[in-house]
Amino acid sequence: MVSYHPTNMTSTPDNLPKHIALVMDGNGRWATKRFLPRAAGHKKGLESLRRCIKHSIIRGVTTLSVFAFSSENWQRPADEVGMLFDLLLKVLSKEIAQFHEAGVKIVFLGEINALAPTIRQAIADAENITRGNTQFLLNICFNYGGKWDIVQAAQKIIDSGQPLTPHTLESALTTAHCGNPDLIIRTGGEVRLSNFLLWQAAYAELYFSEQLWPDFDERSLDAAIEAFQLRERRFGKTSEQLEVVSASKTLS
Ligand code: FPP
Repeated sequence: MVSYHPTNMTSTPDNLPKHIALVMDGNGRWATKRFLPRAAGHKKGLESLRRCIKHSIIRGVTTLSVFAFSSENWQRPADEVGMLFDLLLKVLSKEIAQFHEAGVKIVFLGEINALAPTIRQAIADAENITRGNTQFLLNICFNYGGKWDIVQAAQKIIDSGQPLTPHTLESALTTAHCGNPDLIIRTGGEVRLSNFLLWQAAYAELYFSEQLWPDFDERSLDAAIEAFQLRERRFGKTSEQLEVVSASKTLS
């Protein structure tokens, strides 16, 4: 059993990535290297995710968005797809009380309407049970694709009769409730976004790790956070402009 309670909560510096998104890549390779079925890698990956949630809470991160099943993952062998759905159902039926007790709000992002009724029901139950929680937000991206997200948002805006602008489109994305990630971490050595949070990644800091996801632990997450803290986020401005803003904040 993993406790998600923030027992060792440290102070939260200003430059902490409040919202981290994760591409948890490398489960299959982790298993294959050990002559295990790929399913064993996904199970181990789930353990890694639990550790990461717990450590994020301790560090003062407020939101994790995790890529658990992409729109493209349907192309995997049917038994692996089935296994990933079973794993999700197991988490939702057996671990939701623990998440709830720790104040974790769970929100699913993706084309949930296209999933089977049993999955849809389990997702709706998890969201309803944890709806009022404010300690930590866990966005589970499931049957999610960045292109799909942009298209569904655009369609919503067109249907509502509002003008289609960057602002209105952003307000209709699946992440409207939490904003964009500060930091996107991808494990497994690949250096790409693979259709994850495409719009939302516009000003995110990107961090790529060679580690396979099941090996990604508390120290790995700390290293990613430290790397983020060394970056200068300019959002199109110059370093000099940022220094002026920071000096005026110090004086006020
Ligand atoms: C990518 O690794 C990983 C996935 C497609 C699934 C991620 C799922 C988990 C970590 C399980 C926990 C999630 C929930 C919420 C139930 P890969 O299989 O592509 O690895 P490879 O590149 O080594 O083949």
